[in-house]
Amino acid sequence: MLNFEKIKKDFPLLNKQIKNKPIVYFDSACMSLKPRQVIEAMNEYYFEYPSCAVRSLHKLGKLTTKKVKESRKIIANFINADEREIIFTRNTTEGINLLANSFGFKKGDLILTTDKEHNSNLIPWQVLVKKKGVCHKIVESNGDGTFNFENYEKLVKNAKLVSMVHTSNLDGMTIPAEEIVKIAHKNGALVFLDVAQSITHKRIDVKKMDVDFVAFSGHKMLGPTGTGVFYGKYDLLETLEPFLVGGDTVEYSTYSDHKMLEVPEKFEAGLQDYAGIIGFGEAVKYLETIGFENIKNQELLLNNYITNEINKLSKIKIIGSNDSTLRAGIISFYIDGVDMHQIALMLDEMSNIMIRSGQHCVHSWFDNKKIKNSARVSLYFYNTMQEAQEFINSLNKILQIF
Ligand code: ALA
Repeated sequence: MLNFEKIKKDFPLLNKQIKNKPIVYFDSACMSLKPRQVIEAMNEYYFEYPSCAVRSLHKLGKLTTKKVKESRKIIANFINADEREIIFTRNTTEGINLLANSFGFKKGDLILTTDKEHNSNLIPWQVLVKKKGVCHKIVESNGDGTFNFENYEKLVKNAKLVSMVHTSNLDGMTIPAEEIVKIAHKNGALVFLDVAQSITHKRIDVKKMDVDFVAFSGHKMLGPTGTGVFYGKYDLLETLEPFLVGGDTVEYSTYSDHKMLEVPEKFEAGLQDYAGIIGFGEAVKYLETIGFENIKNQELLLNNYITNEINKLSKIKIIGSNDSTLRAGIISFYIDGVDMHQIALMLDEMSNIMIRSGQHCVHSWFDNKKIKNSARVSLYFYNTMQEAQEFINSLNKILQIF
């Protein structure tokens, strides 16, 4: 059971009012709120030991090295990986760029994505098509947003890499990863999953999934901005050539040569965001105390209610399945002919209800479906039924204007 009294203490923003009204934060798929524990861990770094890890051997440097190591361990355990398989990045996007630029892709190699990819898992491949002559194909989903295995099995035969979004930030739907991985491996393809939206809602066990690479961001899972992780199976990471090189990636250098460090150091070029990494570890610790069962139950409760209420409004269409249990914490909706930015702005203006509107960095899907944009509610465990009711009341009022 969630303890909302404690949650309210841990997330100071939930107690804040703007124009004498509480905030309803329904934009966690873009950026989650941060608990006090994460902010305090980062402040502690800046106040008490703001030093360089590894290279500085003094007491403060040693403490930073220890804390960064601890974070790496916490995050590795969280996804059931080895510490050496955790590469710190700035975000999921950087992780995907790392893969695109470090994997030895050759002309003609086939990369498969879904039709609901965030630009971060689309543009790097489009660039590789131009730069290296790789081939990029899209596995079209079913009409209700579910994964289409028939389309997938047709294309996977010749694929080098299957690179897919695990839970879509567009509609909240999750692809059946384990089966997708099995089929890919049977056909000799590797699999990358963008788990930025799934790791916040469900346990990602990289061993159980047998996935080859994943990437995720700290800022969506209670952690600081500018932090992320790229995971790869150790043997595969050893075969990648780092695309960012320089300080901290080499054992030594001469005027004409250098010797690279091992995985993961060789991928972590330059001075790292130590405060961020430490805060990220703290965020994962916090998530573990909340528990995925509690997260799922709360999201489902609210998503169910909002979906049912929205279904009563004839003008509104929900993107993806109408079954809320398939849409994690997301309800993305639109009204034909209406710019959904207007709805989002009015919700904010009227009731401090903060949602995201637009194309959610999935421009390609909107372009293909000829839909202008959507309004997206994204929930997390700190959201309450009272907030969901306030949202529906405000939406009803706004709709009377349209
Ligand atoms: N991917 C983030 C979102 O969906 C930015 O809002």
